[in-house]
Order: sequence, then structure tokens, then C-alpha cells
Amino acid sequence: KRHLISAADLTRDDAVLILDTAEEMARVADRPIKKLPTLRGLTVVNLFFEDSTRTRISFEAAAKRLSADVINFSAKGSSVSKGESLKDTALTLEAMGADAVVIRHHASGAPYRLATSGWIDSAVVNAGDGTHEHPTQALLDAFTMRRRLVGRDAGLGKDLNGRRITIVGDVLHSRVARSNVHLLHTLGAEVTLVAPPTLVPIGVETWPCEVSYNLDDVLPKSDAVMMLRVQRERMNAAFFPTEREYSRRYGLDGDRMAKMPAHAIVMHPGPMNRGMEITAEVADSDRCTAVEQVANGVSTRMAVLYLLLGGSEPAVTTTPAAAR
Ligand code: CP
Repeated sequence: KRHLISAADLTRDDAVLILDTAEEMARVADRPIKKLPTLRGLTVVNLFFEDSTRTRISFEAAAKRLSADVINFSAKGSSVSKGESLKDTALTLEAMGADAVVIRHHASGAPYRLATSGWIDSAVVNAGDGTHEHPTQALLDAFTMRRRLVGRDAGLGKDLNGRRITIVGDVLHSRVARSNVHLLHTLGAEVTLVAPPTLVPIGVETWPCEVSYNLDDVLPKSDAVMMLRVQRERMNAAFFPTEREYSRRYGLDGDRMAKMPAHAIVMHPGPMNRGMEITAEVADSDRCTAVEQVANGVSTRMAVLYLLLGGSEPAVTTTPAAAR
């Protein structure tokens, strides 16, 4: 059984296959009937121990568009609040016939534990674990960049070779940043992290990217600028500059956006702290792809579920995208 636990596990060929399959899935969204029979009879369980809007709903939409049955499990209101363990929760879901478990958990490593424990036979997809990884977010981000920076049809089979991507803000707590650094490096992009010194992880020098502390220096050399949410809920107040100071040095406003090349895009995984890492003017501008990223998340997650659960048959066309 295959799993998707970490973007770092994906080879370039794996990543390009997922992105090309997502492009085929996006065509389904343009049809009057947005549904494929591919996963009929299979069950996808969304197992969410942490809050989510985009990831949970888009996995549900993705599974339903592939005709799978979907069970949504939220730890709030479940027997987890009575102390039930991850193992017993997983065994319960397995007994209900799960073929894939999409898990979000506050503990880094929980999806890996689920995939390697032998408790369940299902495919496991990491939907965000602690401060570790969020691989489907990185895939949908790469899909968005490839469409915007390489071109929608011209992008098939292509990577992001030589594209300069800047990731800004609370890198320390960001599973989105970690997954993006690994995937973008695999796809040939040059990644620069920009963050206050207190929000740079220990060991970042081993990551395949550059680190800068000056946003204004990096913006003119960026093809995409990804603003990260400041995760106050994971933060010790002593390590955080004031909101005003943070916005002044690391926030993206209209004046800063004007320093970016004309073709460059602004990205945000959401949810956004408007007025903190990004102003409303930038968030609502044509250059910001935040809403497009959400739509692309459905196609990307369709591709992931299809390749994990039903990938031996063609998804949409009779010719695999990589062969065209
Ligand atoms: N980007 C992201 O993971 O959003 P949610 O927390 O709403 O799922």
C-alpha cells in the first residue's frame, strides 16, 4: 500500500506525475457533471485532530468527485475527548472499511506512525502534522506556480526549473514551508526563506534553500512570493516581535508588492491574518492566488487519491499525460 507522508519522499517523476494528473482532474471541474466513477465502492476517511477549512473540505470534494464514499471524523465531539488513543481510533475506522485515511494531527509524525504501525491496511495521506509537513499543500502550491509561471498546457510534464520562489514569515512553525522547500527543490526551483531570526528553525542550514532577513532585497528577484500565516497559537510570546514591528519588516503591502517583477505572483496557503503578514490590498489584488490555490487543491487532491487508490487505470483520458 502506498502512502503520502512527506513531500521529501517524492522524486521529480512522482511530483510531475501528480501535477500532470491534477491537470487532467482540473478538466473534470470544467465539465457540466464534475464527477468520475474511478473510486466507486471505496471509502475515504477524513481524520482531523486539528481544525481545518480548506484541506478537509477539499479532500471531501476530491473524494466525492471520484465517486468514493467519505466519512468525516473530527476529534472534537468524538471519543478522543474521552481519552481514546490514535491506535484505537484507527482500528475503529479500519473496521468501518476505510481504504484511505487522510489525517491531520497536532503531533509531528502521527501520519507516519499510522502508516507504519501495522494497525491499519489503508493508504495514509498526511493532511498536516504539527510543524512537520503538509505535502498536499506543497503539491497544490506547485500546481498553481506551474500554471501561472510555466503555462497551463505548456506546463504538462514540466517542472519549475530555475524559478525563484520566496517564502516569508513564520517558517519555524510552518509545515507548509518545510514541504514547499523540499518539493520546490525537487522540481528545480531556487527557494529563499525570509523570516525574523527568532522564527527560523534550528538546522535550516541543512534545508535545500537560502535564508535572508531582508524582504526588500529579495522581492525584485522573486517569481512567486509565498506569505505564511503567523501561527500565534504555537508561539511563545517572548519570541515574537510586536505586530506593528512584524508587519513593518516582514509584511507584504502594496508598496512592497510593487517591487516584485510584473509577472510575479503572491501566494498564501490560508487562513490569512489580514493586516499582519499581508494587507487587504494585496490579498484582494489580481496578483494574489490564495483563492485559486484553494480551487487547485481539489484537483491536486483528486490526483493524489486517484494515484494512491486507483492509479492503474487512466483517470480522464486514455493517454497518460506524461506520454503526450
Ligand atoms: N492551508 C490549509 O491547510 O488550510 P486549512 O487549515 O484551512 O486546512
